[in-house]
Amino acid sequence: MFSWLKIFFVFSFLALSILLPSSLWAGNDGYAEKIINSQCKSCHRFEGKPKSKFEIKAPDLMWGGVKYQRPWLIRRLLGQEENLYPNGYRWDKLRLSLKHMILTIEEAKVVADYMEKKMLDSRVKKSPIDMSTFTKMEAELGAELFKEYSCLGCHQIKGEEGKLIGGPISTTLFDAGNRYTLDWLSRFTENPQDFTPHSGEYLADISMRKARHLIGYVMTLGVKDFKFYEPWTSKEFKNTDIESGAKVYKEYCMQCHGKKGGGAGPGAKGLEPKPVVHKELSLNDYPDDYLYNLIFYGGKSVGKSTNMPDWGMTLSKQSIADVIAYLRSN
Ligand code: HEC
Ligand code: HEC
Ligand code: HEC
Repeated sequence: MFSWLKIFFVFSFLALSILLPSSLWAGNDGYAEKIINSQCKSCHRFEGKPKSKFEIKAPDLMWGGVKYQRPWLIRRLLGQEENLYPNGYRWDKLRLSLKHMILTIEEAKVVADYMEKKMLDSRVKKSPIDMSTFTKMEAELGAELFKEYSCLGCHQIKGEEGKLIGGPISTTLFDAGNRYTLDWLSRFTENPQDFTPHSGEYLADISMRKARHLIGYVMTLGVKDFKFYEPWTSKEFKNTDIESGAKVYKEYCMQCHGKKGGGAGPGAKGLEPKPVVHKELSLNDYPDDYLYNLIFYGGKSVGKSTNMPDWGMTLSKQSIADVIAYLRSN
């Protein structure tokens, strides 16, 4: 009788462990730790101070809970994402991009949950960049900065027709907008050495505004149908004041464009091409986005002379809306 009972218990325990997902009986955190300890720690670090890549085997994951967008992390753990380092992470040892290990969906979710809970980094704060006000022109300027600051020299993106362009020494960035959190990327860009010191990384000499363009651009990479903000559809443009616009015009535009847009302001002498005679342009036919970009980002942003300044740092959105309304009213 006793031994029958014993067999029954052993049997029901076995049945239970097969039926119930293992996460339930080990506790999710415990289960995640088990996976990480047995399957990840041989290559990745989950704690400790940043180190040179030449002293580690794989990218550090101690900030993994704030670095990745969850859907990307899960896809990566399921083996659905391509490798990030075309030359292999440790290109000094083995210039080969080896296949990464794969988890089951249940394991991937438990590990992602665990990372979101425990792999945090108090240096990563809310980004000052608001992507809901990011414009297409900013992304275009960001794309130029990406080249100007040599990012393309070390990170691949997709060029025309989806072809990979750029140097392959570090991580690819063509899907960066689906991969990074904005907060992590912003903090990383502030000083890459805080995360990947002595690894060949690069710190750009960049203003806040340019950093916004560059980071915002990287956050659009790979994102299908990214919804760009269109300032000319905002409430400031629906409530314009022509008189205020005339004042802005006097303070900032008349010096070159002359009284009432008649051209030949005192500042026009020596400028070639000449500041246009606004009166002669049918500015009502000019598209809103063109005029906004011209005034906010300057002549060069729309292929005009760099002598037409960019007013985005000087004038508020309302002032730009008003001066456009004023120009169009003449
Ligand atoms: C045999 C070594 C090895 C093991 C084991 C391993 N990884 Fe990796 N992992 C790598 C390497 C190398 C890379 C970079 C490869 C690449 O993307 O080109 C990487 C990349 C990653 C990335 C992307 C990192 C980034 O920011 O670029 C994540 C996330 C990751 N691994 C998670 C895990 C998890 C979770 C485990 C355990 C379940 C694990 N890895 C096990 C070697 C390993
Ligand atoms: C001289 C080569 C070089 C240049 C130039 C460079 N980077 Fe990097 N970048 C690196 C290296 C090396 C790392 C560290 C990761 C690694 O081990 O490859 C890195 C890391 C990064 C990462 C984080 C990678 C990750 O997932 O952990 C981002 C994002 C990044 N760079 C963006 C940029 C941007 C934007 C620019 C231009 C302003 C830039 N990089 C310029 C070499 C470079
Ligand atoms: C330092 C001189 C200068 C100032 C100040 C200036 N502009 Fe201009 N602007 C120019 C020049 C030069 C051009 C002609 C650019 C060209 O044709 O390449 C121009 C062209 C323009 C055009 C016509 C663009 C086109 O497609 O033909 C508009 C509209 C304009 N400016 C608006 C403004 C407004 C609004 C202000 C004040 C907020 C202003 N400008 C202040 C120099 C100036």
